[in-house]
Amino acid sequence: MNVDVIILAAGQGTRMRSALPKVLHPIAGKPMLAHVISTARQLPNAQLNIVIGHGADKVKALDSGSDIQFSLQEEQLGTGHAVQQAVANLRDNSTSIILYGDVPLIHASTLQKLLEQTADGSMGLLTAIFDNPTGYGRIIRNDQGEVIANVEQKDANPEQLKVQEINTGFMALPTERLKEWLPKLSNDNAQGEYYLTDLIAMAADSGAGVKAVHADDHSEVEGVNSRTQLIALERVYQSQQAAALLAGGLAIMDPARFDLRGSLSHGQDSTVDVNCVFEGSVELGSNVSIGPNCVISNSRIGDDVEIKANSVLEDAVVESNCVVGPFARLRPGSVLKPGAKVGNFVEMKKSTLGAGSKVNHLSYVGDAVIGDNCNIGAGTITCNYDGANKFKTTLGDDVFVGSNSTLVAPLDIETGGFVGAGSTITRKIETDQLAVGRGKQRNIDGWKRPSKD
Ligand code: UD1
Ligand code: CA
Repeated sequence: MNVDVIILAAGQGTRMRSALPKVLHPIAGKPMLAHVISTARQLPNAQLNIVIGHGADKVKALDSGSDIQFSLQEEQLGTGHAVQQAVANLRDNSTSIILYGDVPLIHASTLQKLLEQTADGSMGLLTAIFDNPTGYGRIIRNDQGEVIANVEQKDANPEQLKVQEINTGFMALPTERLKEWLPKLSNDNAQGEYYLTDLIAMAADSGAGVKAVHADDHSEVEGVNSRTQLIALERVYQSQQAAALLAGGLAIMDPARFDLRGSLSHGQDSTVDVNCVFEGSVELGSNVSIGPNCVISNSRIGDDVEIKANSVLEDAVVESNCVVGPFARLRPGSVLKPGAKVGNFVEMKKSTLGAGSKVNHLSYVGDAVIGDNCNIGAGTITCNYDGANKFKTTLGDDVFVGSNSTLVAPLDIETGGFVGAGSTITRKIETDQLAVGRGKQRNIDGWKRPSKD
């Protein structure tokens, strides 16, 4: 079956009160329309037709896939009019399915169910039973229980308003029928719009028939008109992701305080404490422990690693058995070799810390390569920047840097080099040398303290 997907994305979204077109507002860090596009792509032989209007250029820039054709709806004259804009791009002998850029959590399996209803030429219609159907189109059935029409809220009589079965807007039908019926729509209704939903009565009247199916979950058919609704779906989506990760064996201490804006893979018996945010692509090995309040972006974390509370990692690689934090910041290009330790108030950038090496307290390590089993004392700073250019610091294995030292790059410290505390080091230190670069201590006898007059 060839599937022509039509995604309506022309609306302005006035109630978002935002300069960003509504369909570009994110759920889990990804624009709503991008969610709908990914779902549509799971359908067999799908071509995507996106109807754009408000913020057309920005929306168009979202995805330039060769499977997407955009149609511009210059004036928003109704959902039927919107679909009409895409008709020229639809294939013959395909099945058309209508999706919405502001209804982001629809599942491919539900769409598949809808498509199956069209096998005998019927229209497949996704409906739902709502306790409070206010605002939605109501589904009208005859005495045999067959769907015969949809009536919009504003066109409904008091009897029809009581109907709790609502139109979700999602429908599938043979493209030939769509092409035949769309030109017959009129805007002679309460809103003066071309209603796509009038196709429902046309399908019933033509004898093709309408087969209604339900979604598994109401959140699949919920649309976004306001930030309140957006954030409600964000929480739904986050709890679904957390549930899937828990089911897959990741111990998430509180699924209500867990945010994944991207993808997260993990081995066995790894734990995520409360209030962590994961962004982009994050990989956790086995027996990893992530403490509370960590933010981890595009990073790879090996087995048996402990990331303690309040650490921030971005584009970092942490190999097995490392300990990071609390309050550590690993900026892009940080690589920790197995068993390395980075402690509190340490910032690293574009640097490699060798196996078993430690930077435990209050340091800045930038543009440095540190060998194995080094000890970088508290308050050590790599001076990597002269105001114009960046320079590298290289340490061999077994180097000891005493506390409160400044390492002025470019600088080499060879294996076994030893830096006395409080030094400013500007010249190369050779193997097993001790370097002390500080003012000499003088002790003065009989010193009289200043006293008040
Ligand atoms: C529509 C349905 C209603 C259904 C409801 C579900 C119609 C006539 N009514 O009503 O039966 O219960 O959805 O949410 O279809 N759009 C365009 N161009 C337009 C008009 C709309 O792209 O000219 C887009 C909107 O941006 C939106 C979607 O189509 O994403 C639905 O339009 P909206 O005006 O919100 O329809 P509803 O009145 O909610
Ligand atoms: Ca709506």
